[in-house]
Amino acid sequence: MSELAFLQVRDLCVSYGLSQVLFDVSLAAPRHGAVAVLGRNGAGKSTLLKTIVGELAPRSGSIALNLQDITRLPTERRIHTGLGYVPQEHSVFNRLSVRENLEVGALTNRDRSAIDQVLAWFPKLGRRLDQPAGTLSGGERKMLAIGRAISSSPKLLLLDEPTEGVWVGVVEEIAECLRDLVKDIAVVIVEQHLELALGVADYAYVLDRGRVALEGRSAVVRKDPRLLQFLAP
Ligand SMILES: Nc1ncnc2c1ncn2[C@@H]1O[C@H](COP(=O)(O)OP(=O)(O)O)[C@@H](O)[C@H]1O
Ligand SMILES: [Mg+2]
Repeated sequence: MSELAFLQVRDLCVSYGLSQVLFDVSLAAPRHGAVAVLGRNGAGKSTLLKTIVGELAPRSGSIALNLQDITRLPTERRIHTGLGYVPQEHSVFNRLSVRENLEVGALTNRDRSAIDQVLAWFPKLGRRLDQPAGTLSGGERKMLAIGRAISSSPKLLLLDEPTEGVWVGVVEEIAECLRDLVKDIAVVIVEQHLELALGVADYAYVLDRGRVALEGRSAVVRKDPRLLQFLAP
């Protein structure tokens, strides 16, 4: 996969001040389909996504998207090259309505049908278009965050714990959307819900204290006895 990967992350080292959090992390994602990033709390998953989107600058290593080196590109330029990002926290504008959140997402996009696609996936949002996002339930807010990112028609979507704190019924709705989405674009999904992550992704990386400790096809990683050890608190 690595030569033709759509996203190619090589040997990333990332620090907060003097404290190094990622050590030589390499990861690749194909043009279509998902890869999962697993690991216990504090392993460095969010740091990895923040570095790919450009919120954090790596000390060393490189990031290429579609064979273009984006390691030093500002975040907004990365967004324009087709990167979408759903952060773990603060992923919607609370004071804006559902409709406005989706329209902000679609600003970089000439294809307005992306919003219709979002509403087809998440009909609950369609019934709340004029409601401020801050008044949505946790699950609805996660749907909106994903919907907002999708409405920019990204080629690569980074999802940081899209089902965190979400009721199980909504987890299935989100899973269904993701299974559809990965037919068309590349997705990197950080997810605590192991079955969802390994169900959606063909390939998985397991981080342990900032290093890739285990990687492989999801079906193989799922059966690896070391997996639970790396996920145990
Ligand atoms: N802004 C920050 N400043 C200093 N340390 C941080 C910051 N954000 C995260 N960390 C530390 O980096 C490590 C990895 O955090 P994070 O990437 O959020 O892990 P995960 O998403 O896997 O739970 C943790 O030890 C965390 O405390
Ligand atoms: Mg995190």
